Amino acid sequence: MNLFSLKEVSRDYLNGEVVTSALRGVSVEVKKGEFLAIMGPSGSGKSTLMHILGFLDSHTGGTYLFDGRDVAGMTDDELAKLRQDQVGFVFQAFNLLSKSTVAQNVMLPLVYGGLTVKERHTRADNAISAVGMEHRRNHYSNQLSGGEKQRVAIARALVNNPSVIFADEPTGNLDTKTGTQILDLLAELHDEGHTIVMVTHEEEAAEYASRILKLRDGKMESDTQNVNRRRGGYKK
Ligand SMILES: Nc1ncnc2c1ncn2[C@@H]1O[C@H](COP(=O)(O)OP(=O)(O)OP(=O)(O)O)[C@@H](O)[C@H]1O
Ligand SMILES: [Mg+2]
Repeated sequence: MNLFSLKEVSRDYLNGEVVTSALRGVSVEVKKGEFLAIMGPSGSGKSTLMHILGFLDSHTGGTYLFDGRDVAGMTDDELAKLRQDQVGFVFQAFNLLSKSTVAQNVMLPLVYGGLTVKERHTRADNAISAVGMEHRRNHYSNQLSGGEKQRVAIARALVNNPSVIFADEPTGNLDTKTGTQILDLLAELHDEGHTIVMVTHEEEAAEYASRILKLRDGKMESDTQNVNRRRGGYKK
């Protein structure tokens, strides 16, 4: 079964009298375990598409089925549960709490999960190890380098063991070497079975994906398989 199934999905923003059509009839089928890169010019609808796929925003037209279920028919509670259990987000600006430690940041998504403190620590430690940041567990996030912050942001996205990891320009603020480490890490998570959806402007980053979607003016311009994708060689 397809994990994401979109038919003619649109997203209109209404501000007063002005309508902005961020997405104009996007249709795409995505299976579990794919690694998607979403590319396209600024304003083409990449973030909008990612936010809709990850239940942070709602489409205004067409149909979106997640794992066979019609998202438009879901209650707020059902959507909140999907957000909690199924998806992890990595944002370009990291969005870490600077006065909290690495471990506290990574534990944040677990607050509403009904776990004991001990279980939360165990889960957080596993996620921190998965990104090779054990040695910085108790550092404050404002004491970390950009690449380290991004690894912590990925650990936070991983802590609920989501089926899908969304990353909006995860290498946008990093130098090439650090960016490569982050891409290798995403490739490793993909090898472990996670579905990855990454927005990027960089051709080099898109080479890691198994499939590349290009948007233009809110429409799908191209959809290509990337058979020779680059593989991770990231050493912790
Ligand atoms: N809340 C909003 N209200 C009105 N228009 C919006 C809103 N959010 C986004 N848009 C518009 O929708 C279009 C798509 O925006 P989106 O953020 O998806 O672009 P993007 O492809 O991610 O661009 P970038 O590469 O610059 O991040 C843009 O024209 C944007 O101005
Ligand atoms: Mg964007």
